[in-house]
Amino acid sequence: MLDFETTVRTRQSIRKFLPTPMTEQEIKQILADAQNAPSACNTQPWLVHIASGETLKRLHKIIGERFHAGQFTPDFEFDQMKYGGIYEPRWRNQYAHVFTTSFGVEREDKAGRATVIEQNITGYGAAHMAFLFMPAIDNHDVNIANDMGMYSQTFLLSLTARGFGGIPMLFLGLFADDIRKELGVSSDYKLLHGIAFGHPDWDAMQNKHHLGRVPVEDSVVLHW
Ligand SMILES: Cc1cc2nc3c(=O)[nH]c(=O)nc-3n(C[C@H](O)[C@H](O)[C@H](O)COP(=O)(O)O)c2cc1C
Repeated sequence: MLDFETTVRTRQSIRKFLPTPMTEQEIKQILADAQNAPSACNTQPWLVHIASGETLKRLHKIIGERFHAGQFTPDFEFDQMKYGGIYEPRWRNQYAHVFTTSFGVEREDKAGRATVIEQNITGYGAAHMAFLFMPAIDNHDVNIANDMGMYSQTFLLSLTARGFGGIPMLFLGLFADDIRKELGVSSDYKLLHGIAFGHPDWDAMQNKHHLGRVPVEDSVVLHW
């Protein structure tokens, strides 16, 4: 098991997985770790469905069909274009990082970029996907999403510490209605995001470059 500093500093989004599945016991350890996430009043609002094997194959098919037909049913809006000011260069840099550095696709190569985006459908080949649902409670989406984020990062850090890897995916939230239907989840729950996870392919160039961060001073104001 990795120590905390190594875990938190080496965690990265995995964009190429090996097909080898994790064992049920390995997945249960991750889930037991993630269950320790804090939440407002200890409400633990996360409802997590894990899809593997045949269930995952069915989801790939449905998500692929919906994606190509342009049929999206997100519970929550996301548009990076709305992130202006200091945030815009960050997301533009992230796009360049993923397409060019990770996948070797040039900016002008439209077809190449489409192929990269397409890989979201299968979670970059991950053997498992976790779907993070949250209860719909009047005017509490923001507070519940706080708790969900705590859960999600604990899940991701546990994967890293134990030698696995994952990637949080808003892309999967674009198909909330179909995913709910396939997994038998009530419409009382909203799909915040998914996490594709499993054994990273460390030989793949997609996993060789870790995106940096702005300096701490850009995000934190210290008052002594
Ligand atoms: C809530 C959330 C949703 C994300 N959705 C996607 C996604 O749909 N597809 C994708 O390739 N990356 C997705 N990412 C990964 C981010 O691009 C990544 O975390 C960010 O660029 C920082 O890189 P790192 O995770 O390797 O440190 C998502 C990250 C978060 C936190």
